[in-house]
Amino acid sequence: MTKFILAIDQGTTSSRAIVFDRERKIAGVGQKEFTQYFPQDGWVEHDPEEIWESVVWSVKKALSEANVTASDIAAIGITNQRETVVIWDKATGEPIHNAIVWQDRRTAAYCAELKKAGRESMVTQRTGLLLDPYFSGTKVKWLLDNVEDARVRAEKGELAFGTVDSFLIWRLTGGKVHTTDATNAGRTLLFDIGQNQWDAELCALFDVPMAILPEVKDCADDFGTAEAELFGAAIPILGVAGDQHAATIGQACFEPGMVKSTYGTGCFALINTGTEMVPSQNRLLTTIAYRLDGQSTYALEGSIFIAGAAVQWIRDGLKLVSHASETGPLARTADPSQNVYMVPAFVGLGAPWWDADARGAIYGITRNTGPAEIAKAALEAVSYQTRDLLEAMRKDWTSGNTEMVLRVDGGMVASDWTMQFLADILDAPVDRPTILETTALGAAWLAGMKAGVWPGMAEFADGWACDRRFEPEMDTSTRKAKIAGWDDAVRRTLTQ
Ligand code: G3P
Repeated sequence: MTKFILAIDQGTTSSRAIVFDRERKIAGVGQKEFTQYFPQDGWVEHDPEEIWESVVWSVKKALSEANVTASDIAAIGITNQRETVVIWDKATGEPIHNAIVWQDRRTAAYCAELKKAGRESMVTQRTGLLLDPYFSGTKVKWLLDNVEDARVRAEKGELAFGTVDSFLIWRLTGGKVHTTDATNAGRTLLFDIGQNQWDAELCALFDVPMAILPEVKDCADDFGTAEAELFGAAIPILGVAGDQHAATIGQACFEPGMVKSTYGTGCFALINTGTEMVPSQNRLLTTIAYRLDGQSTYALEGSIFIAGAAVQWIRDGLKLVSHASETGPLARTADPSQNVYMVPAFVGLGAPWWDADARGAIYGITRNTGPAEIAKAALEAVSYQTRDLLEAMRKDWTSGNTEMVLRVDGGMVASDWTMQFLADILDAPVDRPTILETTALGAAWLAGMKAGVWPGMAEFADGWACDRRFEPEMDTSTRKAKIAGWDDAVRRTLTQ
């Protein structure tokens, strides 16, 4: 009997495929990095063909590592980097341009213009988002305005727009299905998250013809079938969620007040707010955590653009280490008396600052500052930024009263040192689960549950297990002094 589930996790820097067995254990993994294009300051692009090839390669690798064939797979769950925009030709499946990545800031001036014209409150009310180039809407407009004939062809219904999940579904199903899920749709600036539908007024505002939009489904739903010629047998696609939403599910944050933070390229913290859509007074986003059986569960989200990417920069840009995992040990050798702060605003600052024009800065450098202090500052920045998000969440949703326990996942959480510093700066417990592949696990659960081979929500949540809890140990005055130094560094970096 078929008993395996395949999760495709299409991230910002690499594509991964993971085969899970019925007991939710990892049976095989395939992973491939792909090229990042930086055509101008603040611009970030991916080649959708390369993304597609990396996904196909990863799936084949995961199947062979798990020693299974496609016919052993009950269903596919897809999770993906969100907001990144692909537009393709419906007849050929060919993208009309490189994908514009979520980190890309090319539409900053246009967003500022709309803000100045007083459009932000209407946009926020309907989408839960802000007028920032981070989201898809203004990127779609940019492509339609700048790629030759694109607008005319879009209006004629010849083109399709999608976030990466949507593009992958199109390719997997051989061009038969143009769809997405509510969590991905909810990041486009074109989707009313309260009404659960594309919004004609928003589409008009961003100049996006509704003919190019995909159909929006629940996260556990029928998204078509991956064609047999791709992997050797047809496989139903039964789960889709944006990566941060999938991680929220994988961390079993199903109860209001439960909060997770994922440390990948960026860092994204989501707190479940139940069926209530909570507007933020502190520049957080209101977002659909997941939608099941037509019912949306909402979350408040804090989005930080650079987390693991700072470590990548230390490795590839500064060449201070040859492997990312050397960053923690290097940081531990830093001189504790130096107060060096890095504000990694490489592509602007996200929540709660939303300053698209800010750029990265390092403060407090002396003649004694070396690679260890820079590495330490990069890792510490992740904790300070997480604290900024959690403080905003406390104010927005819990009136500052409720104790929070943060569930963490993503590559950076393997470092005990980084997690201890996080608990110290947050002054709250940090729980690291036994399964760190929570994003893929969340997508797999959606598909596996829909296929009837994985348990329902309550049993899945019971299976969540903590590997280690980090309790805060830092004394109050040290913490306060460190946070004051960070606040000062951010203040000096902001442009507004
Ligand atoms: O919103 C962007 C986010 O989905 C990207 O996640 O894991 O690729 O950093 P990640």
